[in-house]
Amino acid sequence: MNIEIDPSRLAREIDELALVTEAAPPAVTRVVFSGADLRARAWLGAKCREAQLELRSDAVGNTFAVWPGSDSGAPRVATGSHIDAIPNAGKYDGVVGVLGGLEAIRALKRAGFRPRHGIELIVFTSEEPTRFGVGCLGSRLLSGALPPEAAALLADDKGDSLDAVRNAAGFSGTLDSIRLSAGGYKAFVELHIEQGPILERKKIRLGIVQKIAAPASAKILVEGAGGHAGGVLMPDRRDALCAAAELVLAVESAARETHAPDTVATVGICDVFPGAVNSIPSRVRLTLDVRDTDLVRRDSIMQKISEAANLTASKRAVSVRIDLVNADAPADCSALVTQVLAEACRAHDLPFLPMVSRAYHDSLFMARLAPTAMLFIPCRNGWSHRPDEYASPEDVGCGALILAEALARLAA
Ligand code: GLV
Ligand code: MN
Ligand code: MN
Repeated sequence: MNIEIDPSRLAREIDELALVTEAAPPAVTRVVFSGADLRARAWLGAKCREAQLELRSDAVGNTFAVWPGSDSGAPRVATGSHIDAIPNAGKYDGVVGVLGGLEAIRALKRAGFRPRHGIELIVFTSEEPTRFGVGCLGSRLLSGALPPEAAALLADDKGDSLDAVRNAAGFSGTLDSIRLSAGGYKAFVELHIEQGPILERKKIRLGIVQKIAAPASAKILVEGAGGHAGGVLMPDRRDALCAAAELVLAVESAARETHAPDTVATVGICDVFPGAVNSIPSRVRLTLDVRDTDLVRRDSIMQKISEAANLTASKRAVSVRIDLVNADAPADCSALVTQVLAEACRAHDLPFLPMVSRAYHDSLFMARLAPTAMLFIPCRNGWSHRPDEYASPEDVGCGALILAEALARLAA
């Protein structure tokens, strides 16, 4: 079978989708269930229908575009990723796996392939944590990692509940109808940009992910005492921002001190109240994001951060509260699927690198439902989650080709 990807069409579609954004291009901001997200979903739905795929969405908006197989009783083979984008993001994160997956399916159709196992393109809802604070919302619900009762408590910054927002977006049904049972899919493969520099540095066009690092995240609330920036003397201060600053540096040290390249920790949000030039900050909200391929080490970093928080609280007479949002286990990719990806690379004479993913993906949760693996392509300078994120049309096309080859092997 001669699989031919159309890299120019794929690049054009990536560019077109990038214009569906709440930020000024080239920045892409597409927060789940925002106007831009809904327009992007409609645009993508039309592309899937054009490719003669059958569409269905579940109660949280996970969308499944199906190419039925000749054996309707055989478990399907799935691919996919997400199209939501964090504020001020680029156009490739997630999108490469969705539009690359669609192009892989179209290429297989053009090549005359007839799958025995149905092939499904899944577009996951809210892989990004921007709106509801937790990443991989759709795949967590699909896999049962997030109980529907816990999801029902989620709300955005404005206080709008997940239920209200998803219903307004047209996704009704109960949250407990979303979960899928394990064994329903034969395999899941996600194509994604690497979001790190290794493939580019090694000049290797493809990475086959063996393991996905364990993410944890928390919300931190620091409360001190506010007051007049001129009137309150330094010995009398309980400045919440100074305490938060100490804590941010403690987070950095906790990750650095492991000397392990797979340990990373980030404070990405620092929200200062009341936020006036001449007012001592009385309250600061921080977010914490910690990742590691080693679960014990990840948890020991969380422990160190909690000890540092206690120390800061007592030293500065402030209160520090840490609310854990998620602490997930790492995922090992399936030997079956990584092997099929490796065979697909060899069949096209393309070298590949076995690697770990330090970023999380919906694959982390799909791995609980099905044998799962990921295929990475390089991105310029390893940059991601920024407007100048870039992957060349050739590399995106190459990823779609190997994805198509692997889907064909899995679905035959
Ligand atoms: C996904 O976007 C991540 O933060 O790893
Ligand atoms: Mn992302
Ligand atoms: Mn992503």
